[in-house]
Amino acid sequence: MTEPSPFPVRVERRAVDEAESRRANGPDWDAYADEYQATHGDYLGDAGFLWGPEGLTEDEAGLLGDVAGRDVLEVGSGAGQCSRWVAEHGGRPVGLDLSERQLQHSRRLDDATGVAVPAVLGTATALPFADAAFDAVFCAFGALQFVADLDAALGEAARVLRPEGRLVFSITHPTRWSFPDDPGPDGLRAATSYWDRTPYVEVNDDTGRVAYVEHHRTLGDWVRLLTRHGFVLVDLVEPEWPEGHERTWGGWSRLRGRLIPGTAIFVARGPGRGSA
Ligand SMILES: C[S@@+](CC[C@H](N)C(=O)[O-])C[C@H]1O[C@@H](n2cnc3c(N)ncnc32)[C@H](O)[C@@H]1O
Repeated sequence: MTEPSPFPVRVERRAVDEAESRRANGPDWDAYADEYQATHGDYLGDAGFLWGPEGLTEDEAGLLGDVAGRDVLEVGSGAGQCSRWVAEHGGRPVGLDLSERQLQHSRRLDDATGVAVPAVLGTATALPFADAAFDAVFCAFGALQFVADLDAALGEAARVLRPEGRLVFSITHPTRWSFPDDPGPDGLRAATSYWDRTPYVEVNDDTGRVAYVEHHRTLGDWVRLLTRHGFVLVDLVEPEWPEGHERTWGGWSRLRGRLIPGTAIFVARGPGRGSA
């Protein structure tokens, strides 16, 4: 599911717990951040808000609603491009990311743009914020598909949201897990079971250590987990591949994008006042 690794890796599908996922993904993003920003930075835009490789922007989609005057948390904020968009639209964003190097890129873009986004080092499963601190929480291919303990991450999102606040997040479309992560024709042949939740793991061939982890849940799993935490699902957006869009990003390509969904964006309303 990932992009080319900076070191030789072998791919496995096997169980990985939250601690190991976190130990792997923070350093992995540190190692990969420079190349990621060099490759995708221009496309993302220093203060741009893209929901995924199909190029759907928040300007077009309006999934967060009006952010002006609102406290907005971005989980897995990377270099803070989306949060900077929030700031430019009158919101008060805060970013959170597991990778120090990604946060250094965030500071670099703060300086370059003159739009500073407060960003903290942390994990989605233990947010360092008070209860009911935010009007909206979002994640654009950020942390949620990288955590093993999604129950904890959604519980944390519910905790820091004000009553009926909005949670919006984009992830790799769950149906993609059946297909090889290949932008070409080989990526069109279903090869593994959609219902196999065994994580995707990359092991560093030099060190033998787990270097990268992604976790899969089916669409039903996501709905069940959201409702368990009191969220109401408002929309599930599956961006279509736009006419004339030729950019390939990892396994996302025009060839596949015209036939099968690549991104799922969940829009949910948080628990109301007095909800358990
Ligand atoms: C694909 S990037 C997306 C960031 C940004 N939206 C972008 O498009 O560049 C995923 C980000 O999630 C972060 N991440 C991974 N696991 C995390 C976790 N458990 N908690 C917080 N952030 C995490 C990574 O460090 C990385 O910066």
